Amino acid sequence: MDITFDGEINDKMKGLYRSKYVNEKGEDGYAAVTQFESTDARRCFPCWDEPALKATFDISLIVPPKLEALSNMPIKKTTNMEDLICYDFEKTPIMSTYLVAVVVGEYDYVEDRSADGVLVKVYTPRGKKEQGLFALEVATKVLPYYKEYFNIAYPLPKIDLIAIADFSAGAMENWGLVTYRETRLLVDPQNTSAVRKQWIALVVGHELAHQWFGNLVTMEWWTHLWLNEGYASFVEFLCVNHLFPEYDIWTQFVNDIYIRALELDCLKNSHPIEVPVGHPSEIDEIFDDISYNKGASVIRMLHHYIGDEDFRKGMNLYLTRHQYKNTFTEDLWAALEESSKKPVGAVMSAWTKQMGFPVVKVTSKPSEDGTGYELSFTQCKFCADGAQPSNDYLWMIPISVSTSKNPGKEVAHTVLQSKEGKLFVPDVGPKDWIKINPGTIGYYRTQYTSDMLERLIPAIRDLSLPPLDRLGLLDDLFAMVQAGHTSSVEVLKLMKAFEGEVDYTVWSSISNVLTKLGVLLSHTDGEKQFIEYEKKLLLKVYHRLGWDAIEGETHLDTLLRGLVLGRLAWLDDETTAKEAKKRFSNHITGGPSLPADLRSACYKSVLRAGDQETYDTLLKLYRSADLHEEKDRISRALGAAKDITLLSKVLEFAMSDEVRSQDTVFVIMSVAMTRVGRKLAWQFFKDHWKELINRYQGGFLLARLVKFTTENFASEEMANEVELFFKEHKSPGTERTVQQGVETIRLNAAWLKRDKDAIIQYLNSQN
Ligand code: BES
Ligand code: ZN
Repeated sequence: MDITFDGEINDKMKGLYRSKYVNEKGEDGYAAVTQFESTDARRCFPCWDEPALKATFDISLIVPPKLEALSNMPIKKTTNMEDLICYDFEKTPIMSTYLVAVVVGEYDYVEDRSADGVLVKVYTPRGKKEQGLFALEVATKVLPYYKEYFNIAYPLPKIDLIAIADFSAGAMENWGLVTYRETRLLVDPQNTSAVRKQWIALVVGHELAHQWFGNLVTMEWWTHLWLNEGYASFVEFLCVNHLFPEYDIWTQFVNDIYIRALELDCLKNSHPIEVPVGHPSEIDEIFDDISYNKGASVIRMLHHYIGDEDFRKGMNLYLTRHQYKNTFTEDLWAALEESSKKPVGAVMSAWTKQMGFPVVKVTSKPSEDGTGYELSFTQCKFCADGAQPSNDYLWMIPISVSTSKNPGKEVAHTVLQSKEGKLFVPDVGPKDWIKINPGTIGYYRTQYTSDMLERLIPAIRDLSLPPLDRLGLLDDLFAMVQAGHTSSVEVLKLMKAFEGEVDYTVWSSISNVLTKLGVLLSHTDGEKQFIEYEKKLLLKVYHRLGWDAIEGETHLDTLLRGLVLGRLAWLDDETTAKEAKKRFSNHITGGPSLPADLRSACYKSVLRAGDQETYDTLLKLYRSADLHEEKDRISRALGAAKDITLLSKVLEFAMSDEVRSQDTVFVIMSVAMTRVGRKLAWQFFKDHWKELINRYQGGFLLARLVKFTTENFASEEMANEVELFFKEHKSPGTERTVQQGVETIRLNAAWLKRDKDAIIQYLNSQN
């Protein structure tokens, strides 16, 4: 049967849409691009647009000769038709509609064959093909890695990775034709920062993992979206760890993925990993930190529980058994259960079907025979507001323990199956520390007695406690603080033990805590004292790293320098501001240019100290920048300006056609994050609500914007205002985010009320 249909190439970054670029002659050009996930294939052609309804696709494109035409499969036949060309592509394997893709536009490419014989091309804007080389190298190595890991070859004859100028997500795993934002794919050696390069490796690893997990085997329905996203978010780290061991990427996982999941998942308005969804806007909304980050975190826990070998075997079983078909979460458990002979389904079901996670309270006492210590555990659900919910919530929690005799080694473990449990830990002396959850692998918080905590502190100072344990300890304590189980002063005291900290990821975690405390204190008159406290904390690491890269330094020290200088810039540290000003001025006047890793910190610093003229200079820099990464860096620094008139200009700029829709949200965010800017950004959101709804149509970018513009308030009054606004202005696809935002504001308000005086008193005593 034939159906004739027509449609429009829209500009909403959904379905078949147009993407604008400037070609190498400086002229505007348009590409036609598809983005179908989750429910937008139907915008392009009539179809049964659900993941379980798989079909084969024979695609033909008729295009002008100067344009490249790409789709999932290689070209089968080319026919000249007067002034157009018709490309017929090979038939696809049976697949879900959301993975179908075409791209038509002007592009260059670099190509190579992976060791396992797959033709890989990376498409870039014309004249910039060398910017595709890094991704090409990563992709050609990732394919054989996955082939070996899953013991299944990549199923298609070719794979293309292409940078798309207008793109709403970060990247999309269309089978055989993966699309990326330019900033997620292109590396310009002079202008790409180390942190960005690392990110690109992760994104390439993520989308290629989907070629098996998602594309070859697909979730039955969006309720099981996490099978795609959580799993790919785990595997991307496996493969980057393999390709770039110097990134120490598993440590970074804990800060960037695991902690972010816990932060969201302790809210009343979190949701279980597996969640019923119906309307497309509900589907959009679950592309969130639960599906991705909690999903990846529980898989990491499971991987540890059954071990890599059985995990691999189980993966192979699962993928072979269900290839070209669809699955439920239980199918994955069944395969892993078979390979490991462990009760995977029983252990895992609470983690995916029940929202939230437990806090494990631990007490210790010397065992009666004096050969070790006896630990007692109790579990209950961890709630952000510190409430003790009913006993209904239980998880099967794999718990392990390390001690000062063997830091980093698991010397005892158990699975806590009921409310309470015990564990004997051998060979522990009266001064030794005991650390629960070494490596921060179990998806739970730990609450220690003050005696157990005290013993761990010297091991933070002398760094004998491994980085992931230092990080986990701090973050667990901070969670207890936020929930009101202990005073904020305790975390301020604990952080002083981190003055000699050397690890980038641990510092990222400290930075996370400082940011949250900083937001809280920005609602008080204790902000100045807190800035002093923080500057003192950063002094040592700042002196170790300085401004200039040290010959042969590690990748992680490069990242750390950017982080530390970025913080000092925010604190208006005078020396930092002076140095930043000098280097920035050289940068723009043809002197030594700023290394990409320092630019973000410098831009923010000069803006904070600057005026209208500085702002204009940065705008000029923005306009002259060609690389999207650089434009991003500048536009996301603009919110650092302090002057309210300038900040209003930043907001107008964010909505102007100088900023791509996909980036607007993050420019507004840069304003919303500051004390001066947050009210302004919220007002701006309200004033432009209609336009924003229209632009983003319930997509996840709108949900992000709602999160950024609401979550930093800290009064009941603002909670009510936000609640009322969204009651009167229905915004599909942001419902849960609104509830989370309102809940967070109320939590902030309660926290402030509880701890404000004690914090200020403590800070005063320190300075
Ligand atoms: N499948 C998603 C892309 C996507 C996201 C489609 C939201 C529709 C709605 C893709 O695999 C993905 O997860 N992309 C991430 C990047 C990744 C490295 C975490 C993204 O877009 O942020
Ligand atoms: Zn994904």
